Amino acid sequence: MAKKGRLEFVKMKQAGEQVAWVTAYDFPTAQFVEAAGMDMILVGDSLGMIVLGYQGTIPVTMEDCIRHCQAVRRGAPNTFCVGDMPFLSYQISDEDAVRNAGRFLKEADMDCVKLEGGRRVITRIKAIVDAGILVIGHIGLTPQSSGPLGGFKAQGRDAASARDLIEDALEIEKAGAFALLLEAVPPELTQFLAKKLTIPVYSIGAGGPCDGQLLICGDMLGYFQAFTPKFVKKYANVAEIEINAFKEYVSDVKTGKFPTDDHVYHILKGKEDEFYAMLKEYE
Ligand code: KIV
Repeated sequence: MAKKGRLEFVKMKQAGEQVAWVTAYDFPTAQFVEAAGMDMILVGDSLGMIVLGYQGTIPVTMEDCIRHCQAVRRGAPNTFCVGDMPFLSYQISDEDAVRNAGRFLKEADMDCVKLEGGRRVITRIKAIVDAGILVIGHIGLTPQSSGPLGGFKAQGRDAASARDLIEDALEIEKAGAFALLLEAVPPELTQFLAKKLTIPVYSIGAGGPCDGQLLICGDMLGYFQAFTPKFVKKYANVAEIEINAFKEYVSDVKTGKFPTDDHVYHILKGKEDEFYAMLKEYE
């Protein structure tokens, strides 16, 4: 399947065709995601929680993100991939934001970057877009600001905070972002913005209808154990499968059921006598 680009995603919005995307952080997952025919992959800074074991996304560095983006690109060469800009990679200045956004393209072959925030990062979005880099805006529950937001809480649930998000969304579109991601806001607001904006509007925990849905792979596959947000649908219980497999392996090793003759490399045929003679020299 050919890799989709910006125009395909705009056409999908116009045709009312939903985009399915998911996060991935490593080579095998990226291979599976591409094999499943996913439209888009986000190499989220959620990697800090899902695969590095941090409590949040703040400690994640550019180096972490680039390394995981490279692995994902190797696994999914034909899927549109989005690199997520980590905390402090774009907060300091427009120049810094452009330099770091560019690294995702130059060093990890990403197709696009995503950054959190609305009007407060609008000059950053504009600067990155002006450098010729596709940008996805991300507003609502923005995990890098979970401290100031009072935790991982839904946003835009009253008129005043919904108005704030609408103003952010309008500015993000005006700044030239190619799409907007809404996280944990009411579906009524999502639907309103998907109709109001000409750019695609995607949801993670923001219901629909809009232009597509994103989930975190560790949540939907059931291997992220710390917590599961209300908006997640679990499609598998990988934790249970892995724990049971590891338990069975421990038991097989301890009881001598593993390895069997099927799992070993035998002496080359016709070389047995020479082999045993050599061992004898050491007895
Ligand atoms: O890092 C990530 O996975 C994200 C999602 C929560 C949208 O930014």
